[in-house]
Amino acid sequence: MGFYSEQILPRAIDKMLDNAEFAAVRREACDGLRGDVVEIGFGSGLNVPFLPTGVTGLWAVEPSEVARRKSRTRVAASAITLHEAGLDGERLDLPDDRFDSALSTMTLCTIPDVDLALHELRRVLKGGGMFHFAEHGRSPEHGVARWQDRCNGLQRRFAGGCNLNRDIAALIARSGFEIETLRNFSLKGPKPLGYMTVGRARNL
Ligand SMILES: C[S@@+](CC[C@H](N)C(=O)[O-])C[C@H]1O[C@@H](n2cnc3c(N)ncnc32)[C@H](O)[C@@H]1O
Repeated sequence: MGFYSEQILPRAIDKMLDNAEFAAVRREACDGLRGDVVEIGFGSGLNVPFLPTGVTGLWAVEPSEVARRKSRTRVAASAITLHEAGLDGERLDLPDDRFDSALSTMTLCTIPDVDLALHELRRVLKGGGMFHFAEHGRSPEHGVARWQDRCNGLQRRFAGGCNLNRDIAALIARSGFEIETLRNFSLKGPKPLGYMTVGRARNL
């Protein structure tokens, strides 16, 4: 990894995703999480302040050392017991049927083999366990989706492999999760960047 992706990008992401609009999204995504939770793409721990008291421990999967370091103040300010649980959502070094809940925010856009990551989440979640997600992705508006396809190469290059045009709900459904709640909306700002899918899916 180069200096930009290793040092600058994790700090930029920490700043860009730490605002009131995202705080509301995080609150919604974290609401109802319970028991032992695995989070893929933990980043700088921006979800930590929103974890409900029913969470007994958080297993964080995050490749960026800078992001993990930045998370420490948030973790220290919370009551959560954090376990650093590996670097790659595509290969979870965690046992089968272990977790009550799983969490991913703004991460399914970036993991290269997202099908594999979802398969891994299903493997480590108990039967009936819930996956909570808040992700940006492909807009149903044809004109917006065209721009997302056009700009995807640039986005991938400058945003650490982030894709604008993944159909998040379709990816989750085809991995075998049963989607129980889904809310779509657009964030403020350029439409290609901000089509959001927030919801919960059950591991069957
Ligand atoms: C846009 S950031 C979101 C961070 C955090 N989830 C949040 O909402 O603030 C995407 C995160 O996915 C992480 N990531 C990239 N590839 C990954 C992988 N293969 N497995 C797990 N996380 C990954 C990045 O390091 C980055 O922290």
